[in-house]
Amino acid sequence: MASEGETSVMDPDLSELADTKNSKGHGFRCFKHDGLYFFMLPEHLVKGQKQADRIKSVTEAELKDDDIIICAYPKCGTHWLWEVLEMLISGTIHYQKDVKETRMLEFIFKEGIEAVPQPRVFNSHLPLRMLPKQVVEKKIKCIQIMRNPKDVCVSFFNHCRDVTPPYNYEGDFVEFTEAFLSEKCPFGSYSTYLLSWKTEVAAAPELPVLDMYYEYMKISPVKAVKDIAKFLGLSSTDKYCEEVALACSFKKMKKVDEEIKGDGPMKIWADGSEGTFYRKGEIGDWKNWFTVAESERFDQKWNAKMKGSGFTFTYTPV
Ligand code: A3P
Repeated sequence: MASEGETSVMDPDLSELADTKNSKGHGFRCFKHDGLYFFMLPEHLVKGQKQADRIKSVTEAELKDDDIIICAYPKCGTHWLWEVLEMLISGTIHYQKDVKETRMLEFIFKEGIEAVPQPRVFNSHLPLRMLPKQVVEKKIKCIQIMRNPKDVCVSFFNHCRDVTPPYNYEGDFVEFTEAFLSEKCPFGSYSTYLLSWKTEVAAAPELPVLDMYYEYMKISPVKAVKDIAKFLGLSSTDKYCEEVALACSFKKMKKVDEEIKGDGPMKIWADGSEGTFYRKGEIGDWKNWFTVAESERFDQKWNAKMKGSGFTFTYTPV
């Protein structure tokens, strides 16, 4: 049995691995549950149970009325938003010593969720239907953070390439983009995630949801922090919102990550890789990764699915 911090996966779980491999044999260490692909977690996190059952347990978790959940597809800026929220709620410019994964629903499951002390800001990449049922019942405040899909694709590729074996993606960026635009990607496709979110939220009209965009936070950080404070019903002063925005700038957060963040529930980055949750922090890095033809192909596929959905994104800094 693996001990805390190790990443080995129990052999019996290997039978659950879904085949996400492309024609070159490159894929993800994932299993499929309720139509979605999930990274297979190490034994010390699933504690001898089936991971699908652990994920199902999330729906039964008891929540507190003042819990907050950041909902997002991977690489849309969850770490950033989490730090902003914690500073707004606590009223102090203190960085979290814990890593964000200690509040991630699909990492900590029902018992872990219930054990987190209040006030609690959780985060999750799960669609609404897989979140605790009490999210809708108790009208828990949710913030959905979104980012333009090309930068998400680049950021997710770097993440998947740099994670520790056996989770690391060995294909190239073009192969990854194909997977990203298909469903055979960890957490499924971003487009499906957004469309499901929209449909599921429409079916829960009383759920308080704030739509936030990575690009808006980047271009107008103070305004974004004020919008968030207002949504949470906080009476944060303009000056305090400015301080929070500044403390949560990319440069500051990257430094904090290097200097004070503790270990997460599992080792994430491969030895010798440059893996980090604070890579570039820019709008438009995709231009350094896509050729013109690849970018057009991406647009065609994305637009074919998302046309008329109402989601619009900013692809370049203004
Ligand atoms: P890049 O890989 O493009 O640099 P998540 O937290 O959802 O995993 O998202 C990670 C992405 O958000 C990374 O994108 C990371 O650099 C970026 N990010 C993290 N903190 C940020 C901040 N304070 N400002 C801008 N971008 C930030």
